[in-house]
Amino acid sequence: MEVSLKQIPVTKTKRSRLAEVDFDNLSFGNVFTDHMFICEYRDGKWQDARVIPYGPLSLDPATKVFHYGQEAFEGMKAYKDLQGKIWLFRPLENQKRLNKSAVRLAMPELPEALFMEGLKTLLETDRDWIPQKSNSSLYIRPFIFASGTGFHASPSDRYTFIIACAPSGAYFSGKVSVRIEETYSRAANGGVGYAKAGGNYAGSFYPMQLAAQAGFQQVIWTDDHSHEFIEEAGAMNIFMRIGDTLLTCPTSDRILDGITRKSIVQLAEAEGIPLEVRRIRVSELVGAAEDGSLKELFGAGTAAVVSPISSFGYRGKLYTLPEREDSYATRIKKRITDIQYNRCADPYGWRYEVG
Ligand code: PLP
Ligand code: COI
Repeated sequence: MEVSLKQIPVTKTKRSRLAEVDFDNLSFGNVFTDHMFICEYRDGKWQDARVIPYGPLSLDPATKVFHYGQEAFEGMKAYKDLQGKIWLFRPLENQKRLNKSAVRLAMPELPEALFMEGLKTLLETDRDWIPQKSNSSLYIRPFIFASGTGFHASPSDRYTFIIACAPSGAYFSGKVSVRIEETYSRAANGGVGYAKAGGNYAGSFYPMQLAAQAGFQQVIWTDDHSHEFIEEAGAMNIFMRIGDTLLTCPTSDRILDGITRKSIVQLAEAEGIPLEVRRIRVSELVGAAEDGSLKELFGAGTAAVVSPISSFGYRGKLYTLPEREDSYATRIKKRITDIQYNRCADPYGWRYEVG
């Protein structure tokens, strides 16, 4: 590293937009904080780490990310507790996953210290932007993209890493209904499904549009080979409760190894919720919905935390789940958000104090 990480230079904005933000009515990811962290990879090393005012980038039309989609991102959140302290949730898991994605996309890995010091410097600079209300937080979007130029279909020689942040409220408003997707696939064996590559999301928008036209907010992805096995719920990992057993499918080449998912698995194991991590057939889900043993279906991810699914569509039929008072989803969401917002002890060591 060419910079001393302890002194990442900060250039403050001359005109803060903070006063313009309605913190009582935050949507998800639509307003951005005053600053961003940026650094560049060139001549074989990461350099020029700095925090600067948030704003547009000037990029050559031949910038490789526009043509070949060489990009990966992360999604994480910062929380402010009642004392005004700032916390992150398992940030090193995001840092490691970003590097896993970077390797798969032939991009340089980012040193842990650069990721963490850049993030902390940015959060300290924009700390007044972190909402304190429960259900609101600062959504953090770190991303790496190919910033070198050329139409040759080969990896870039230059990359840019940015962290941008958006004070945010709930990801979904209202009930979530999903359709089991049997035509399109999010990912295939040997592909980039396990990476948080921008292209994975671009490829999902068309099937999601078709689902939206049919009245669904999300799709449930099935395996690309047979479409017989359940894989993910849109941009979330999927859980279901059959009887009193909580089920989720194992991660694979095709599935994003979600940090919320692995936290729920650990929580369920520690707190005595019967859990099975195994492949789940669509026919098992449909059969359980038909015989009444399907008690819950929910997605899990950073943005939505735990998002109950109220109904699912399969081959033209709609299966509606009854609302439950004693749901695993509510219990798990409370446990996780209590840890995230420093409202309870953290027996798992997930919370990370920024200060
Ligand atoms: N699956 C996909 C495809 C995602 O985009 C996400 C969101 O990041 C997840 C699962 C959940 O991952 P995490 O819990 O780490 O946010
Ligand atoms: C998440 O952070 O949970 C996501 O799914 C990211 C999404 C907004 C693309």
